[in-house]
Amino acid sequence: MRKATAIAHPNIALVKYWGKRDVALNLPAVSSLSLTLDGFRTRTTVEWGADHDRVVVGDTRASPQFEARAFAFLDTLIPDRPPLHVLTESNFPVGAGLASSASGFAALTMAAQAAAQRSLDPTVLSRLSRQGSGSACRSFWGGFVEWACGEHEDGSDSHGAPIAPQTHWDVRMVVAIVEEGPKGTGSTEGMERSRATSPLYEVWTQQAQADVDEGREAVRLRDLDRLGAVMESSTLKMHATMHTASPPLMYWKPATLEILHTVFSLRERGVSAWMTMDAGPQVKVLCTAADAEQVCKAIQPFSRACHILAPGPAAYLDHGP
Ligand code: DP6
Repeated sequence: MRKATAIAHPNIALVKYWGKRDVALNLPAVSSLSLTLDGFRTRTTVEWGADHDRVVVGDTRASPQFEARAFAFLDTLIPDRPPLHVLTESNFPVGAGLASSASGFAALTMAAQAAAQRSLDPTVLSRLSRQGSGSACRSFWGGFVEWACGEHEDGSDSHGAPIAPQTHWDVRMVVAIVEEGPKGTGSTEGMERSRATSPLYEVWTQQAQADVDEGREAVRLRDLDRLGAVMESSTLKMHATMHTASPPLMYWKPATLEILHTVFSLRERGVSAWMTMDAGPQVKVLCTAADAEQVCKAIQPFSRACHILAPGPAAYLDHGP
């Protein structure tokens, strides 16, 4: 049987994507900037021409909702596809605000395209994967990546593009896991609720491009204080649209706040450590490689687990041993 395996790493947004200008094509309302991470990864195999559609996660059949989302995406990707078996596993908690949909849909797109013997150009893969999950389109490059909001109605100019490679800047993202369970409200539903009901949503979209420009310049200059400041601002503005949605979306837990305050007090003591969060209670802290152990030690008492992750590589095909 024809099959292909791809490995993709999650990316964490330094300037956030939150909100869609077109739900059907999954076009973002704002541009965003991300860092691809090493250490965490999703490995996905697509078997071409099986007896029926099936997704297996680790060694368990996926839920009907998970399968429906995966195969609806595969139908847009390859409309004339045969039944497929998809086997996927991630080495980190899934659906908990740790960008598993980014690595998941990036690996699925690459493996499916390879199994179908179609183009593996990263820009093409990025554009395609965006329709599965927006943030996936940033995982086709290592290091620092920008996803332009784009202007075309068909989404042809809305895809990721590299701005600096994995080797450009040896920073660390310290990932504090506060809770491992899946989040109550997924990103797709959460961002639609913010768009439809938050009085702050318009301000969020108005300021996003300036934040992306500032973040890109800070990455170019390797200026951690500048990047950290805009990353925290983008994170807090995004969460403000969640908190002021109706009904409100509150992903923060008591331990989340303990960690945020620990990061702020580390900074008062001269450590350049900066927080970011996504649609979940986990906190990620950007800092230098030299400070990462100290940061991890400081936030560990409030975390179930703490991982120090370096900049990671682009998604790639795994040809096996
Ligand atoms: C908060 O890419 O998961 O992590 O496009 O609806 O699948 P969909 O959303 P998704 O949203 C990620 C939102 C975020 C911020 C970010 O990664 O930029």
